[in-house]
Amino acid sequence: MALLEINNLSRSFGGLKAVNDISFSVRSDSIKAVIGPNGAGKTTLFNLISGNLPADTGSVVFKGLPIHGLQPYQIAAHGISRTFQNIKLFPGMTALENVMIGRHVKTRAGFTAGMLHLPFSRREEKEIKEKSLELLELLDINQFAHIEASSLAFGQQRAVEFARALALEPDLLLLDEPAAGLNIYETAEIARLISKIQKRGITVLLVEHDMSLVMDISDEIVVLCFGEKIADDLPAKIQQNPQVIQIYLGDDDA
Ligand SMILES: Nc1ncnc2c1ncn2[C@@H]1O[C@H](COP(=O)(O)OP(=O)(O)O)[C@@H](O)[C@H]1O
Ligand SMILES: [Mg+2]
Repeated sequence: MALLEINNLSRSFGGLKAVNDISFSVRSDSIKAVIGPNGAGKTTLFNLISGNLPADTGSVVFKGLPIHGLQPYQIAAHGISRTFQNIKLFPGMTALENVMIGRHVKTRAGFTAGMLHLPFSRREEKEIKEKSLELLELLDINQFAHIEASSLAFGQQRAVEFARALALEPDLLLLDEPAAGLNIYETAEIARLISKIQKRGITVLLVEHDMSLVMDISDEIVVLCFGEKIADDLPAKIQQNPQVIQIYLGDDDA
């Protein structure tokens, strides 16, 4: 059984079909990429999966359970965690504190309790801090634990975001354009970290424009164009798909 199954998912904005009858599945322990030109519906698709937007029709089934219609914190509690297209760290906090926030939410098993700032016992705080430091170490950024997140390089901020998302102990991690704004060295590091995360048994679904990153690390690739799925295949097959080539090379004659 697939870890995630998306069935005939649709979402319109006014007359625009941003996500139009999309179906695909994501195998456990795999890395799947969603690619497509700007405006293809990739972020909307992520918002539908994470519950940040309700779908008009269709279903999202995670670990055999329908999750569409649930609130984002409920979906997170089922084991889906995400990062956003624009880095969303708390700028006045250290790298460690940013990760601890993610863990606080997990510990109290609901965003509401986390938001209410209920006091945590010393034992809980210690557990949260230890776990957060472990994640910074996993992502090779433990040396920045006590540095303000906003003063880190972009690549390091991405890694902090990954750590914060992992603090929820997800089974599925959604990454929206993790390499956006990064230089080639930072992109290579992010690719290495994504593979490392997958090897820990976490399934990854990512939206990404950087083709070499996508081709290097993905097991399967879904291609969206104007809200429609036009391909869903192995990277080598996607590279040879005439429709995909046409979209990416902008061949007007075809
Ligand atoms: N909240 C919204 N309201 C209106 N239109 C939106 C909204 N979000 C996305 N869209 C539109 O839906 C289409 C798909 O957007 P998006 O999912 O962000 O694409 P991608 O991430 O592939 O670039 C675009 O045409 C975009 O302008
Ligand atoms: Mg997007």
